[in-house]
This record gives sequence, structure tokens and C-alpha cells, in this order.
Amino acid sequence: SGEPQTITVTGAGGQIGYAMLFRIASGALLGPDVPVRLRLLEIPQGLRSAQGAALELGDCAFGLLDSIEVTDDPARAFDGANIALLVGSRPRGPGMERGDLLAANGAIFGPQGAALNAGAADDIRVAVVGNPANTNALIAAAHAPDIPGERFTALTRLDHNRAVGQLALRLGVPVSRISGVSIWGNHSATQVPDINHATVADEHGVWHPVPERLAEVFGSAPAAEQWLAGEFIPRVAKRGAEIIEVRGSSSVGSAAAAAIDHVRDWVAGTGADHTSVALASDGSYAVPQGLVSSFPARSVGGQWHIVQGLSITPAVQLRIDASVAELVAERDAVAALGLLG
Ligand code: NAI
Repeated sequence: SGEPQTITVTGAGGQIGYAMLFRIASGALLGPDVPVRLRLLEIPQGLRSAQGAALELGDCAFGLLDSIEVTDDPARAFDGANIALLVGSRPRGPGMERGDLLAANGAIFGPQGAALNAGAADDIRVAVVGNPANTNALIAAAHAPDIPGERFTALTRLDHNRAVGQLALRLGVPVSRISGVSIWGNHSATQVPDINHATVADEHGVWHPVPERLAEVFGSAPAAEQWLAGEFIPRVAKRGAEIIEVRGSSSVGSAAAAAIDHVRDWVAGTGADHTSVALASDGSYAVPQGLVSSFPARSVGGQWHIVQGLSITPAVQLRIDASVAELVAERDAVAALGLLG
């Protein structure tokens, strides 16, 4: 078996943390051969809940679970961490302005970035789940000058998985027959689900362009476009609200599953298909350098690589521009608050 890996989960007493911990301890994150040391970070009012989860984890007698530690001290939580799942954040309260929200989260992700910088392992990988996820990742990275910027990512895998699920449903195929879906931009209502490079396998295993298949299903290319703009994109972008309405509570199991997919693929590689991940732009697709924006990406050798050379339709470009503009506004707002160091 491999060397034990230290995995820090923040907000571990919350709902997504709870859903995630059991899967991590059972090997879903790093595979069946890697023992895990769990570190659960909470604020004082969340400690009891995290301690309760730790008791239950013990009751599972997971063979891979090397140890569990619960703490409210970021320095302790991130000491020697190989993977950090930053789930705990400050939700938007009633009447809270965007500036207040960004400031409250800056007060969380700035110090956590600094604690990662001070104590994490050299191979630390950070996945930010807590919203506003892209900008929280930007803030954490800004406080961790010794950690390569590419190690800070934010989760758009849930949006990606939702888009794959919706497309598969409409085409009447299992998700395993869908490939090449992309999410661009911010993890927010402005996110851009893009199926223009997606392909779908027929029953003989032959892959066909999704836009062509949709045009067949809807009778014409304009009718397919209408479905994409009028139903598919809004449904994926507003799926969180739909889940709240139907379930009476926010997305938890799917968010935890997406976070695990994100880190597992980062470590183990993506294979032939690409996925979507929010990471610091290298200027690809004219997204301003350093901005944490979602791209189609593959993981090879433990590193994310943005898929290059995809042609962007004018309709998708307009949406990407709007989402990137939102990210620039968030970045400028946190910079003005002094949260980028
Ligand atoms: P929750 O409210 O159940 O849990 C959050 C936990 O974080 C609480 O236990 C709280 O005490 C803790 N916390 C707050 N500040 C902390 C800090 N400074 N250090 C450590 N822990 C801290 O919320 P839930 O449902 O687990 O969601 C967590 C976050 O994930 C929210 O921001 C939510 O918006 C976000 N989210 C992101 C998704 C994505 O796709 N990126 C999808 C779904 C949710």
C-alpha cells in the first residue's frame, strides 16, 4: 500500500463535508491503496458536528483511514496537507451586499491561504468548493506566494456533471456515451455550459458531434439552438435552485461527488475525455491572466492542462465575455478591499 496522504476538509461539520468524508475514507478519492489521514477544520460553533462525524467515521472501521483529527486551528489543519478541500465559507445572509460577502469570505480564505503556505506539503493541491468559489480560490492563492498558482483550483465539476446529465437525458443515452462537454467562466448563474465540442456514441460505439445529433432530435439546427439557449443552459445554471425547490435543501450529495471527481481526476488523470475545472488563467481563450475561471481541461501527470484550440461560437463567446466580466468585477472588488495582498 502507498504512503498515507493528509487530506484537510474545511467546513467538515457542514452538509457537504459530511457527505464527502465517508467517501474519502472509503478510498473514492485516492483509490484503494492509499491510506488517508483526515484533518477536519471547523469554526468553534461547527466543532461538535465535525466531532460527531469523526465518531461515525471511526464506527465505519474503514481499512484505509489512518487517523482523524478535528480542529479549529488552520495551522494545525493544514500542516503537512497533501490535499485541501476548502468547503467551509460564509453564505450570503439576508440583505448582505456582494461587497460584504466578498469581504467575509476574504477573512476566511486569506488566512487559510497563508496557513497553507506556511505548512502544507510541497505537493499540496487545493480545491475550493465554498462560494464564491472562483474568487475565494484567487484570494487563497494570493496569500500563498510559495505555492505554485496552478495548485489552487475551484469546483465547476458539479456544473459539468449536471450538463452531462441533462444532455444524456435529452439524447436518451447513458452518460458514459457523452464526451467533450465544457463549462466556461464563473461558478455562478453566468456560467457557460458548452456542448459545441461534445460527442455522443451510438450503439456501435461510433462517436457523433452533439450539435448534429441535437439538430436531428429537434428537427433543425435553429430549433436545437433554441433548446440550448432557452432550456439547457438555464436549467444547468439554475439547477441548484431547482434542487432546493424539489428537495427542500441544497445540493449536497452531488456537490460532494463532484468535489471527489475533481480531485480524483487531478491526481489520477482524466484519460481521453476532458472535464471542467476553474483554475488561474494562463491567458488561454483571452481570459485575463491569473483570473480563476472555468476551462475545459485534462489532467496529465498530476497537472491540469487547459484544452487548447477549441473554436468558440459567437453565442458562446458572448456568454463567456459576460461571465469573465463578472469575475473581473469580483477580482477588482476584493483587490479594492485589500484582500489580494
Ligand atoms: P453548510 O452551511 O452545511 O456547511 C458549511 C460549514 O462550514 C459549516 O459547518 C460552518 O461552520 C463551516 N465554516 C464556516 N466558516 C469556516 C471557516 N472559516 N473554517 C472552517 N469551517 C468553516 O454548507 P454546505 O451545504 O456544506 O456548503 C458549503 C459551501 O459549498 C457553501 O459555500 C456552498 O455555497 C458551496 N457549494 C459549492 C458548490 C460548487 O459547485 N462549487 C456546490 C454546492 C455548494
